[in-house]
Formats: sequence, structure tokens, C-alpha cells
Amino acid sequence: MGLIHDLGAGALRHLPAETAHSLSLSLLEAGFGPKQRVPSGLETTLAGLALPNPLGLAAGYDKNAAAPDALLRMGLGFVEVGTITPLPQAGNAKPRLFRLKADGAVINRMGVNNEGLAAGIARLAARAGRPGVVGVNVGANKDSADRAGDYVAGLTAAWPHASYITANISSPNTPGLRGLQEGGALEELLGRLAKARTAATADHGAKPLFLKIAPDLDEEAIGGIVEACVTHGLTGLIVSNTTVARPESLTAPHRAEPGGLSGAPLFEPSTKALRTAAIAAKGRLVLIGAGGVASGAAALAKLKAGASAVQLYSALALQGPGLAPRVLKELKAALATEGFTSVAAAVGADLR
Ligand code: FNR
Repeated sequence: MGLIHDLGAGALRHLPAETAHSLSLSLLEAGFGPKQRVPSGLETTLAGLALPNPLGLAAGYDKNAAAPDALLRMGLGFVEVGTITPLPQAGNAKPRLFRLKADGAVINRMGVNNEGLAAGIARLAARAGRPGVVGVNVGANKDSADRAGDYVAGLTAAWPHASYITANISSPNTPGLRGLQEGGALEELLGRLAKARTAATADHGAKPLFLKIAPDLDEEAIGGIVEACVTHGLTGLIVSNTTVARPESLTAPHRAEPGGLSGAPLFEPSTKALRTAAIAAKGRLVLIGAGGVASGAAALAKLKAGASAVQLYSALALQGPGLAPRVLKELKAALATEGFTSVAAAVGADLR
């Protein structure tokens, strides 16, 4: 990364968190993003999708699909845009995004602010034919009378324009949403998604379909989700979204702000949930690991716990765009040190 980009990233860190987020995205959209080289030899596949490397951008940074190509140019192996809801929604009152610098963490209660499906899909349609894996994360409007119907609408609209689809049922900032992870509500949602997927596949071809879950679930709950996903033919799980827990270890002034906690303190609980899902899935689902990835060692730990690829967000927000090449260099070295000849060779190594 060049000096100008280093200076730019440094300046952004002194702005209020949401201002820095909007400005960085506008700069990317306007073409000011860095084109970064990343190491070779990290090529892999995710549910049949060819990735240049296994390090992706998690949902929430580019909610409206404003700059997926600029994000891919930064060296990320894939980008997940969204969460997109059928109708535009404003989200919660500001401030709603907080950096916990001393803890390497972020708390957000954005409330899935986004411009809605029509706007997001129009941007995705405009990039048709461009290379790179761009997944679309879909959600439900806060005031929707039929939340499962919102996911069906999102899946159906996004399908022709997405490399893969994620149904986000784990945002802690939409009241009641996480109830979709349980029992009858989960069954109904997955049943309706499976039906919509069959129709979309007939029209536009097969795509992977992931469900994104919370880290705040016990073994039994994760086991139930895994079996329901296998029954309904989902491709896999993204583990995990942000946590509503507040570890004792937090020291930063904003630590008691309501919302979802992400970054370093999420690494342990999200990796534990990932491993639990991998053990329960017994190879029947493809897993993506997210939560607290800020180093090659952390990325490798997620792969070994069963993830085919990993995602990050908070570390990028805290450290700036030089992060992806740095993490990938470290990952390449860590794979070699542990004797893995490829990314795929490390996937699930802890479980064997
Ligand atoms: C998120 N995340 C998120 N996830 C999602 O599925 N839809 C979304 O709209 C958002 N929005 C969002 C906003 C902000 C500000 C943050 C920090 C996070 C969760 C994100 O995708 C990821 O799962 C977690 O943040 C864990 O990864 P990190 O941040 O610890 O690397």
C-alpha cells in the first residue's frame, strides 16, 4: 500500500466511526481504493466457487453493493455485500457505531440501515460479467409482517446477480430476529427458502445458500440448526455474527454500549461455535468462519476448526486496507510452518 493510502487510512481513524466508514466507502466507490498484491499459493474453493484466497469481507461494510470491485482489488478473496432488506430502512439513531480501540473491538447497533433491494440489485446488475466472488446477504425489514417472506424476496431478487446468497438471521439489532434460529420459525424459514431456491435455480442455475448464525448459541441449539440446514439442503453456515455478550476483559470506555460486539473479543466464542457446528455437521455443510480475524494465525485457526473460508470486518475498520495483504502473508507463512501444502489441506485439521 502506498504512502497516500497509509496517510488516508490514518486520517480516517481520527474521524467518528460512522463518518470514517461512509467516507472510506465513498473513496472506494470513486476509484481511490488501493490495488494491492497478495501472495499466490492461497487459491482455494468455497462450495465450488474458485477463490484467489480464503479471506473475505464480511457483510455490513458494503451494505448497498456500492464498491464490491474496489474491495476485491484490495486483495480480498471474496466480498459479501448486504445485509439488504426488501424495503429501504434508516436503522437506529446515531451514534450507533463505536470503536473499542483498547480491546481491538467494535460495538454496533446500526439496525440494518440499507437502501433496499431495488437499489442494491440495480448496482449488482450493473457489474454483471465482472470477475470475483460477490455474495449477497439478505435480511428482513424491522417492521415486516412476514419476515420469512422477506428472505424469500431477497433470495429471489439477488439470485441472478450473486455468487452466493446468505440469509442473515442473527443480527442482534433487529428486535426478535434471532428467534428465527429456533424450532418452528427456523423450520418454516428454511422450508420456504428451499422452495424459492428450487425456483431460482431452475431459472438462473445453482448457487450456494448460507445461513448466518449468532455466536450466542449452545451446543444443542447449534446441533438443531445444523440438522435443519441439512434437511432443507442448505449449502452451509456462516459462523458467526456479532455477540450480545460483554466479556469481563473489555476495558474501553464504550464497552457497555448496547449492540453487537465484534473484533478480538469475539474470536474465541465464534471459533468455539464454528468448531461445534463443524463437529455436528460431519462434512455435510460448508462453513465460513467469521469473528475476530486480524492475523494469519487467527485465519488458520478458523480453517483448522472447519471453515473452508474466513471473513473479517472489524480489523479492517480498525487497521485500514493494508490488513488483507498482511493477514494473507502471515497465513501463507503459518500454513508452511504447520506443514499444510494448501489452504484446503488445513480445513478441518483439528477435527481429524
Ligand atoms: C456487522 N455485521 C453484519 N453482519 C451481517 O450479516 N449483516 C450486516 O448488515 C452486518 N452489519 C455489521 C455492521 C458493523 C458495523 C459490524 C462491525 C458488523 C457482522 C459482521 O459481518 C461479522 O459477522 C462480525 O462483525 C464478526 O467479524 P469481525 O468484525 O469480528 O471480523
